[in-house]
Amino acid sequence: MPQLQSRSLRIHADALEYLDQTRLPQAESWERIDSLAAWQAAVKRLAIRGAPLIGLSAAFTLAHYAKAYPDADWQAASDALRATRPTAVNLMYCLDALEACFDAGADALWARALALFEEDRALCLAMAERGADLLRDGDRVLTHCNTGALATAGVGTAIGALAVAKSRGLKLHVYVDETRPLLQGGRLTAWEMADLGIDYQLICDSMAASLMAAGKVDKIMVGADRICANGDFANKVGTYMLAVLAHYHQVPFYVVAPYTTVDAACATGAEIPIEQRDGAEVRGVAGAFGEVNWAPTDAPVWNPAFDVTPAALVTGWVLDTGVFDAAAIGRGEHCP
Ligand code: MRU
Repeated sequence: MPQLQSRSLRIHADALEYLDQTRLPQAESWERIDSLAAWQAAVKRLAIRGAPLIGLSAAFTLAHYAKAYPDADWQAASDALRATRPTAVNLMYCLDALEACFDAGADALWARALALFEEDRALCLAMAERGADLLRDGDRVLTHCNTGALATAGVGTAIGALAVAKSRGLKLHVYVDETRPLLQGGRLTAWEMADLGIDYQLICDSMAASLMAAGKVDKIMVGADRICANGDFANKVGTYMLAVLAHYHQVPFYVVAPYTTVDAACATGAEIPIEQRDGAEVRGVAGAFGEVNWAPTDAPVWNPAFDVTPAALVTGWVLDTGVFDAAAIGRGEHCP
C-alpha cells in the first residue's frame, strides 16, 4: 500500500511509482523509480510530465536518495535532477525547498517532500475553485496540452477548474487541442475529459482559428510552466498562437497556475529557458501505438517544447490566492 497516492504517483517509504503517461490512453502502466537516473529518464521521455508533477516527483526521488545514501553528495544529486528539464520553475521550487533541509538530515527531506505534495493538492483545489467561478453554464472552453490530475498531485490547474465547474453542476463543452508534437491533448486531456464526464471534442491545433471565427469559443483556459514578474508566461508550444487568436477574436484568455509557478526572479519572458527537443518528435510519432515517420528521416527540425505568451494577451492570471492582473503579480500580491 502506498503511503500517499495521486492519479499519477504512488509514494512508498522507499520508492516512487508513476503512471507512464507515454502509454496512455492505450495502457495504464505503473513503473518504479529506484535511482536518480530512472527519474531523469522518465522525465526526459515525458512519462512523468506537467510542471507540478515534475517538481513533486523530483522531491521524492531526492528524499529517497538521501535516505538510501546518507553520505552521498546530495547537492550534486539535486543539481543533476534540476538540469533534466529547464523550463518549468516548479522543479526548481521543489528542489530549493529540499536543499533548504539538507542540514536537518534525510528525515527532514522526506517530511518536506510530503508537505510539498499536500501543498500542491490544496493549491490545485484553491485555483480550480477560482477558475470555476469564472465559468458559466453552457460555456464552450478551449484548452491546450494537459493540465489535469495527471500533471499535479490534485485536481489539476486549468482542467481542475473545469472539473470543479462540472461538480457544481455546470454544463460545459470543452474543445481539446490535440497539442502537437507529443499529443498531450489528444492522448491525455481527451482521456481525462471522458473520465470526468465532461462533454468534449478533440481538434487539431490548426483548427482553433476557424473555431473562434465561427464564434464557438467562449473562454480559453491553459496552464503555465513559468510566470514572470511582468506576467509573461511559458506554456506548451502552441499556447502563444491561441493567445494571439483569442485577442483578435476577443475571447477571454485565462492562465490557471499555483503561486509556485511564478518566478519573481524572472523579469520578462525573454529570460525563460526554453527546452529544445529531438527532431524525431516532429518528423513523426512514437509511443505505445508504434512508430510512424512521415517526414524525410533527415529533415531539419525546430522543436521548442514551450513558447512564451506576452502578458498583454492575458485576461487574467488565476492563482490559488486570487485572480490577478500583471501589475498585481509584479507587486507580489499573489504570494500567500
Ligand atoms: O511538456 P509537458 O507535457 O510537461 O508540458 C506541460 C504543460 O505545458 C502544462 O500546460 C503545464 O505544465 C501546466 S499544467 C499542470
